[in-house]
Amino acid sequence: MPTLSGKTILITGASSGIGKATARLLAANGANLALVARSAERLQAVVKEIGSNALALTCDVTSVDQLQKSAKTAIERFGRLDILFANAGLYLSGDVADGNPSAWGELIDTNIKGVLNSVHAVLPEFLAQTAGDILICSSISGHQAIHWEPVYSASKHAIQAFTHGLRRQLLEKGIRVGAIAPGMVLNELWGIYDQSEIDRRADLGEGLRSEDVAEAVLFMLTRPSNVTVRDLVMLPRTQDL
Ligand SMILES: NC(=O)c1ccc[n+]([C@@H]2O[C@H](COP(=O)([O-])OP(=O)(O)OC[C@H]3O[C@@H](n4cnc5c(N)ncnc54)[C@H](OP(=O)(O)O)[C@@H]3O)[C@@H](O)[C@H]2O)c1
Repeated sequence: MPTLSGKTILITGASSGIGKATARLLAANGANLALVARSAERLQAVVKEIGSNALALTCDVTSVDQLQKSAKTAIERFGRLDILFANAGLYLSGDVADGNPSAWGELIDTNIKGVLNSVHAVLPEFLAQTAGDILICSSISGHQAIHWEPVYSASKHAIQAFTHGLRRQLLEKGIRVGAIAPGMVLNELWGIYDQSEIDRRADLGEGLRSEDVAEAVLFMLTRPSNVTVRDLVMLPRTQDL
């Protein structure tokens, strides 16, 4: 089975939640980590915990320039770039009638353009080496329209379409493309920070842990090279969707 040993993985949204849990797990599996988020302090804390095979890259995914610089710095530091986990994202729910269009704009810029920008930043390297893995963090909300979060659901539907089109553009170039689509994950996105609360609700089957998603990411990234997991949908046991 392929391993991640010595591979360099760029993760966006690595300062908390799914990105942070994935960084920890992939580092424990021998990968070098280039960790992207806006908050330098929280990123540094993750790097401190992981050690010298992790690099903090303070970067806003809505900025094409910042992402290109981040990809370049990662390659300079580790000598290679093998995998992108485009995970950074924002969440919004509520009725459209009461919505704030400028908050919608920020969400669209982050959840859609941020993914496009991230892919654009790594593609020259992946194409030059005719190898690479692109994994995009979608959501169950990208597979079905969820009425209490229509703007978020629209953003995740957009990146599902992007994932499928991109995969077919790159399948002859040695580059795999897939998306992971979790249901409810008990973490900072919902304002849940308390580990005992996460454990209590996870034990009831009400939510996934960020670490559950990290395990699924590891599974997707360690399939044999003839296998692409195009979509992996995972739900907490009792989520009725
Ligand atoms: N939690 C769930 O229930 C759930 C379910 C399905 C899918 N997801 C998806 O999972 C992904 C990760 O979310 P999470 O659950 O781990 O929530 P989270 O803990 O809130 O993490 C979001 C991450 O994205 C980063 N981020 C936000 N805007 C950014 C920007 N403009 N540039 C760079 N980084 C940015 C945040 O860091 P900074 O604030 O430091 O920039 C943070 O590290 C998202 O795409 C989300 O839609 C979450």
